[in-house]
Amino acid sequence: MKFFIDTASVAEIQQAAELGLLDGVTTNPSLLSKEQGAPREILREIAKLVAGPVSAEVTATDSAGMLREARELRGIADNIVVKVPMTLDGLRALRVLSAENVPTNCTLVFNATQALMAAKAGATYVSPFVGRLDDISADGMQLIGQCCAIYRNYGLESQVLAASIRLPQQVTQAALLGAHAATIPPPVLRQLANHPLTDSGLAKFLADWEKIENRM
Ligand code: G3P
Repeated sequence: MKFFIDTASVAEIQQAAELGLLDGVTTNPSLLSKEQGAPREILREIAKLVAGPVSAEVTATDSAGMLREARELRGIADNIVVKVPMTLDGLRALRVLSAENVPTNCTLVFNATQALMAAKAGATYVSPFVGRLDDISADGMQLIGQCCAIYRNYGLESQVLAASIRLPQQVTQAALLGAHAATIPPPVLRQLANHPLTDSGLAKFLADWEKIENRM
């Protein structure tokens, strides 16, 4: 499963890239609003830092406007993936972009039918929002399973990108269900490497080594 990082923070992306596990980046207007500077400049910097796909979202709500913005965003760098909302206009834009081989990410997906429509429109990635569904007492992970099953059933080429991840165990569950990618916020990415038994085990090894390291 690919690991994307869900942030527009260049510092966080740099740190994650150093781990060697970073396959791509997803941004959205809310994430970009947390950073200093012009959004397109931030995207340019991110796209230079990471070789993999960098999702950048359109803000137009009509398909003609989305297509205009898509071309501007693609002008920033070759690895920009155009993020389009799951609306009827979004589907129209996805169809055109897919015919032009422009990589896309259909965002704000909250049920399996939306995911099926996005795939039929030719989206490269489809992003079901796990955490936001869990927030309203729905089952985000069940949706990931449904999307994976539907894409398998019909040989659809879109990749399921588990988004709105809040907890490390959601990454594990998404991988078990066969999601192609998960986009992970930086704190969760750090948590993934942690286990209390790793910490206590390491402390014990170091303490025991200290007892014998000066033996002749
Ligand atoms: O990239 C979109 C998605 O991951 C947003 O997550 O935490 O705002 O629901 P969140």
